[in-house]
Amino acid sequence: MSITELGRAGGDLSPGAGADLAVRTEGLVKTFGEHRAVDGIDLVVRPGEIFGVLGPNGAGKTTTLRMLATLLTIDAGRAEIFGVDVAANPHVIRQLVGVTGQYASVDENLTARENLWLFSRLQGIAAPRARRIATELLGQFGLEKAADKPIAQFSGGMRRRLDLAASLITRPPLIFLDEPTTGLDPRTRGQMWDTIRGLVADGCTVLLTTQYLDEADQLADRVAVIDHGRKVAEGTPDELKTAVGNSTLQLLLAEPDEVPTAAQVVRRVLGSDPVLSPERGRLNVALDQADLAADVLIALRTAGVSISSVSVAKPSLDEVFLALTGHETGGGETGGTEESGGTEESGGYRESGGYRESAGSGREENR
Ligand SMILES: Nc1ncnc2c1ncn2[C@@H]1O[C@H](COP(=O)(O)OP(=O)(O)OP(=O)(O)O)[C@@H](O)[C@H]1O
Ligand SMILES: [Mg+2]
Repeated sequence: MSITELGRAGGDLSPGAGADLAVRTEGLVKTFGEHRAVDGIDLVVRPGEIFGVLGPNGAGKTTTLRMLATLLTIDAGRAEIFGVDVAANPHVIRQLVGVTGQYASVDENLTARENLWLFSRLQGIAAPRARRIATELLGQFGLEKAADKPIAQFSGGMRRRLDLAASLITRPPLIFLDEPTTGLDPRTRGQMWDTIRGLVADGCTVLLTTQYLDEADQLADRVAVIDHGRKVAEGTPDELKTAVGNSTLQLLLAEPDEVPTAAQVVRRVLGSDPVLSPERGRLNVALDQADLAADVLIALRTAGVSISSVSVAKPSLDEVFLALTGHETGGGETGGTEESGGTEESGGYRESGGYRESAGSGREENR
């Protein structure tokens, strides 16, 4: 069945204004106790695109995907997938969506081939066809050599590929990828990016979450940036980066006390303020052109400000965040945002662990 046919089939069940869109959400909300993990998110994903949901730990990325995949109930707002209302037609949605979790949900004790076979059988596919599908997918994901090894011997990248393969058994037109490359080495990340591009070339639509601006940059046609359960920006990766300049001059001053002087110099040379890092003596300067870095450095030397380290880099997610929200992303798994502090962030990480435990049952539920 093609994407449009599926869309139409869904349209018959629940005609919605978004029938020509892969995903449409309006005011999506998920509350855990007092905490609004997803706090009114509007998304539009067009068929055939890669849409990225970019945000730091605890932003609400997984929760959003899980609601769209019918693995969590929607507390308020509305979501449609190919025009089908998610809350009203969970069974139809499960046929339209393939989900790959943040943590691989394959069975450790089985081989790759057995895992794929089992997932196919669980979906009611007859045994001979299940065997054929397993062989095809192992080939497509470059796992032929490892096909008959137990998953316990797989690397992280191989597991991710197998998990993605398992979510494609039913050839769903829409695929959700939750942080598909977190924890992978650069080469394996690149392979995963190619695989994802291949899915889209084959006609799939991909909604992925990521913590990495470079991943969104490489893969996504459009990106929504979320923070504390709210969408803070949306656009193409280029538009997001433009918010912070094309490159960033990162300076560490020899004398942290000279930060105000340095900031004044930057303002004079570029007409804009540098971003002061919480780290003492460090400041980041957004540059429209990388060669403006030289002007800033010369002016700093003339002003007698000495620098202990300097680099020019592409803007990071942290800088995009700072520019968009006025606060940092929280610096990874153990850090805390200014508002939430370390406690909530570590809570967020624990809850992600909870998802790991439930991922297997979630998949079965979704099959
Ligand atoms: N089952 C749950 N019960 C209670 N709170 C939860 C649950 N799942 C998520 N949360 C909370 O909701 C918020 C959003 O979590 P979510 O897992 O969606 O974040 P995320 O953006 O996917 O983060 P990460 O990058 O760490 O995966 C966090 O504060 C988290 O603690
Ligand atoms: Mg997550």
